[in-house]
Amino acid sequence: MATVALDGYRSSLPIDRYLKYDSYVAFEDVNRPQFILVKAEDGRYVELGPFWLVWDNITFPELKASVSYGWPWQQVGFKLASFADLFANSAPPEDSPENVKQGFLEAREFCMACHKVNGDGGKIGGELIENGVVEKTNDRRMKDLILDIDITLTAFPKASGMVLRSELPNREQVADDIIAYLNAMDANK
Ligand code: HEC
Repeated sequence: MATVALDGYRSSLPIDRYLKYDSYVAFEDVNRPQFILVKAEDGRYVELGPFWLVWDNITFPELKASVSYGWPWQQVGFKLASFADLFANSAPPEDSPENVKQGFLEAREFCMACHKVNGDGGKIGGELIENGVVEKTNDRRMKDLILDIDITLTAFPKASGMVLRSELPNREQVADDIIAYLNAMDANK
């Protein structure tokens, strides 16, 4: 299921997650204004309305790991669609190496809520392949941008959401897989 936010952020969560766990669509109580949260990383206030997708992480504490990707705010729509349709232009060829296929799954989760790959994905961070971003960004730089918060914030002060969370197991490996996937898509463009 894809969720659509005011600013073009798009998260896409497998339907299994909705079937397995309880989620709620929260909206503002007009008698209690300030439907906001304060982001732990930078103390920024975020307006949550019109709608915010929340999960029952009291019954299911494992849901606490997925932070903003799974809890999108400023929602204006929910769209039921297959992953094959949502990512038709960004899927690597069937015969791609395993790390490229794995990188695609990870890029879907960690990059494509904000970035497009061949036109598929969100629109906060811009297109990565068709605009030549992957082509002009070498692997070392790409890795720094997704692993090192200081480097990322120096280059792109508003893109803190780009850095893989420090709690993510194997984050170096995840970064390498994502880079392998992006390079493979760039080579095939
Ligand atoms: C929360 C949103 C968000 C996520 C998630 C995100 N990015 Fe970004 N990214 C941005 C924004 C915003 C910029 C800055 C765009 C600008 O100012 O042109 C950016 C910039 C970039 C740039 C530099 C673009 C340039 O013009 O040189 C690269 C490369 C990049 N992102 C790659 C990634 C990769 C790879 C991932 C996944 C690991 C990712 N991003 C995840 C929002 C995001």
